[in-house]
Amino acid sequence: MNTTTPVVDHYCVFGNPIEHSKSPQIHSAFAAQTGQNLEYSRELVELDAFAKAAADFFEQGGNGANVTVPFKQDAFEFADLLTDRARIAGAVNTLARLEDGQIIGDNTDGVGMVHDITQRLGWEIKGKRVLILGAGGAVRGVLLPLLQEEPALVAIANRTKSKSEELARLFKEFGKLQGFSYNTLPNEPFDLIINGTSAGFSGDVPPVHFGCFTENTMVYDMMYGDEPTEFLRFAEDMGVTKLSDGVGMLVGQAAESFRLWRGVEPQTQAVIEMLSKRS
Ligand code: ATR
Repeated sequence: MNTTTPVVDHYCVFGNPIEHSKSPQIHSAFAAQTGQNLEYSRELVELDAFAKAAADFFEQGGNGANVTVPFKQDAFEFADLLTDRARIAGAVNTLARLEDGQIIGDNTDGVGMVHDITQRLGWEIKGKRVLILGAGGAVRGVLLPLLQEEPALVAIANRTKSKSEELARLFKEFGKLQGFSYNTLPNEPFDLIINGTSAGFSGDVPPVHFGCFTENTMVYDMMYGDEPTEFLRFAEDMGVTKLSDGVGMLVGQAAESFRLWRGVEPQTQAVIEMLSKRS
């Protein structure tokens, strides 16, 4: 009698904190939808223990992992190989074990956001004037896919101007972009404004000139929550009607990870609706 139990492919998300991560729910929904048999767990990792936790996971047969705050740079260093978009982002949110045992690191955050904006929301980026707020890891992670959509220009505004200028320098070969502080940012309308700051965590709104908004401006917040974010509320007060939080980006980055791991592309709309249901 064959007593071998069937081996189920195993994925996880590493983070700290991790208990509120929606990734297990999203990937289980994708697996059910596409008929894939897999397990997906949450892994809480001590702040200085990412490399060991990831090495143990893959040694025990893990197939792939998502990586969230604060370990995306640790994952970048951990990976044996990197995709181009992970290398330029300087951060990895997806790890996969290749057939030869090497671990490849990718970054699907930017593609997740761009797909959400262009495909689900149907907002055009090509030829548009784009303003992105913030110059931390979240913004760096999305700049390359954003620039690949060929906007007319990307202005990066940040409290600390040296960081937005540094990002503009780093990405200059991929498109027209310029770094500003909120004071030096031109008081002119933009077609698309993306909030990539963490200001919302403290209930703040980045100090963007009112003149940057028109009633036709599209406003996207990478953050999301059960209630509209502070920034979306602020934009609404500015008369903006095309607004979206980042729940579609969350699902979009997961969909791209799932596609890399499983070779099938899940549908995102139903999963976004499932997560957006407010109690
Ligand atoms: P993340 O990985 O989420 O990008 P981060 O690298 O710490 O986190 O970056 C946070 C970003 O939010 C930074 O651009 C930060 O501005 P500074 O670089 O000037 O610190 C921005 N940020 C945080 N709180 C803010 C606030 N209250 N108003 C405006 N920008 C804020």
